[in-house]
Amino acid sequence: MNIFDELGDKKTVFKDKKFLDHRFLPDKLPHREEQIKSIAKYWVEALKGVTPPDITIYGKTGTGKTAVAKFAMKQLKEASKDQDLDIKTEYIRCTDYTTEYQVIARLCQQMGRDVPYRGWTKAEVINTFRNLLKKNAFGKDMILLVVLDEIDILLRNDGDGLLYTLTRTENVAILSISNYVDFKKFIKPRVKSSLRDREIVFPPYGAQQLVDILEERSKLSFVEEALEGDVIPLCAALAAREEGDARYALDLLRTSGELADEKDSNLVQGEYVREAKDYIEHNKITDIIMTLPSQQQRVLESILYLTKRKEEITSGRLYEVYKDVSRGDTVSYRRIFDFINELEMLGLISTNTVSRGRAKGRTNIIDLQCDMSVLEDAIWGM
Ligand SMILES: Nc1ncnc2c1ncn2[C@@H]1O[C@H](COP(=O)(O)OP(=O)(O)O)[C@@H](O)[C@H]1O
Ligand SMILES: [Mg+2]
Repeated sequence: MNIFDELGDKKTVFKDKKFLDHRFLPDKLPHREEQIKSIAKYWVEALKGVTPPDITIYGKTGTGKTAVAKFAMKQLKEASKDQDLDIKTEYIRCTDYTTEYQVIARLCQQMGRDVPYRGWTKAEVINTFRNLLKKNAFGKDMILLVVLDEIDILLRNDGDGLLYTLTRTENVAILSISNYVDFKKFIKPRVKSSLRDREIVFPPYGAQQLVDILEERSKLSFVEEALEGDVIPLCAALAAREEGDARYALDLLRTSGELADEKDSNLVQGEYVREAKDYIEHNKITDIIMTLPSQQQRVLESILYLTKRKEEITSGRLYEVYKDVSRGDTVSYRRIFDFINELEMLGLISTNTVSRGRAKGRTNIIDLQCDMSVLEDAIWGM
């Protein structure tokens, strides 16, 4: 008897879990038809041998930006397959390639030129890249479509040099994807003027739209009749409240299924969804907080302290408490604003500017955006 035998045969509500994975790219993307059409409308230029305009996609997490961009890339590849065209599409996740040098080196490598990830000057890498894009051996122009996913991370890290280079390289069109509408504040005017981009907005999904998305995916991933009737609507409703995040909806559905397996039940029940929600929330926030730099943790701890005391949190008051919490090992008042920004980006807090009359000017009020008990567990231990 092998120790894995029994486990391999264990009964399960899943037919194939991989269809609930984030990396799986579905053939159908309900409720994104319009956005897909917009990209196609611009990219079709490439099929006529013309470099398409640059595109920027905005939308909150889980609104299908990455999925749609990858889908459009796949479709373009298919459409250009049998044509006498040299169109290349490259997908870059700016969390993996975080500087201009790395991105350009990566693009060179994808086009068959071995450029090291360090050691060359930036100018050398850029020249190599531009030479690759000059007419190919047959005198035909190559068109390169670069998808820059999570571009705000790169911009914050490395500035707008990459956009400057790419927008000033012939035959290159970029599709940038950002989770934040205001990411262009990281771009200087000289780059803005060469980035004549078309913008496509991805609104949050509504509950009914999420139901459609989940139903499609559940057919692939669960055995028949494994889901109680209210499971999908419940996942959808909870995710609709989380800013229409399809990834969260899928996580809820998968985790609910895993709970059913754990409980040896062949039916996923509505109450498992609520359990799944607590489980995911807890893990997500705990993960984020655990990986924060310790100074940031102290800022968060100070916000938690003030929230518990039901005090209004201004940056001044926050700094006072923060100084107490850190016992001398403090950063400057100005750095606190960076921290507040970053915590807001992570969705842990929100800030709201209020006007206090002419004399006092405007003040930022900070609000906690995550569950207090989860935060307490993460910060002060279980
Ligand atoms: N319209 C849709 N139809 C089917 N699945 C979708 C749709 N929109 C998003 N998804 C799925 O939800 C998850 C999150 O989508 P993703 O494209 O990664 O969001 P974003 O990049 O905007 O954060 C992925 O697993 C994706 O396949
Ligand atoms: Mg994405």
